[in-house]
Amino acid sequence: MGEHNGKVIGVISIKGGVGKTTTVSNLGAAFAAEFGQKVLLVDANYSAPNLGLHLGIVEPDHSIHDVLNDKVPVQEAIIHHQFGFDVLAASLTQNHVKPFKLKSKLDPLKSEYDVILIDSSPNLNEEVLSTMIASDMLLVVSSPDYPTLSCTMHAVKVAKARNTPIAGLILNKTRNKKFELTTEEIEDATGTPVLAVVPDDIKILEALSQTTPASIYAPLQDACVQYKHLAACLIGTNYNDPRFLTKVKSLIWRNKTRDEVNRLLFKEGKLSSAPEPTSCKKE
Ligand SMILES: Nc1ncnc2c1ncn2[C@@H]1O[C@H](COP(=O)(O)OP(=O)(O)OP(=O)(O)O)[C@@H](O)[C@H]1O
Ligand SMILES: [Mg+2]
Repeated sequence: MGEHNGKVIGVISIKGGVGKTTTVSNLGAAFAAEFGQKVLLVDANYSAPNLGLHLGIVEPDHSIHDVLNDKVPVQEAIIHHQFGFDVLAASLTQNHVKPFKLKSKLDPLKSEYDVILIDSSPNLNEEVLSTMIASDMLLVVSSPDYPTLSCTMHAVKVAKARNTPIAGLILNKTRNKKFELTTEEIEDATGTPVLAVVPDDIKILEALSQTTPASIYAPLQDACVQYKHLAACLIGTNYNDPRFLTKVKSLIWRNKTRDEVNRLLFKEGKLSSAPEPTSCKKE
């Protein structure tokens, strides 16, 4: 029997390519490396899996497909990764699964982990529903354009209809352009707070080519610092940005951005519809 009391966090969007897998690998690395959490990353994108490929795992000996099809016990399919987290990777060659078994396979692992992150499929069918059902809370990934926003609104509606609490939105691939939708507009349209704003950053693609989470490959990039702030907020702690410029700016410019305010409110349990942060063992 483990001593942990893990929370299952599903990372969803019902549009492809917005950054779910990038979020899972970077948040996972931040939880493990920065905050000493015991973390499991799960690839629940059964028909087009790619979490393994982000992390240098090509075809695992035993996959989530084998687990969901009752071919192997879940423990046998877990890979202990050199980056400090565990991974339940998917097979690139199988796509037949019983997705609704995901919850019953992950629930017993909650006592073994502090955080279980699920990388979901973008397909609005039983694939993404299996993530919603297995999760204690959801992070919805979006980007600041109308087509993605409309998918994000839909994803939020489906999650609310299923009563899975939404922790908040991650606004990814922002370019700070006037034509982009603002954080406020996205919050208004979705009724959901933005917890992190992650800039579009070529280093994320460079890190992918090295099959390494960017938050390990280039830890002081703005994008990576955002993942660390988000990880901290989700476990109710703080991340101290060590960069000199940030320290100077925080002395002179005390106004907080909207996502910073939301993270503070989240930690205090004051964000409407947000679930309690998971507990943290290390500051
Ligand atoms: N902030 C970012 N800056 C630059 N590139 C990014 C950023 N976030 C993600 N990407 C890149 O965008 C591509 C799609 O990202 P990712 O695979 O994480 O999306 P996804 O939502 O998981 O896609 P799918 O729905 O197909 O599983 C990848 O090449 C990734 O490296
Ligand atoms: Mg993906």
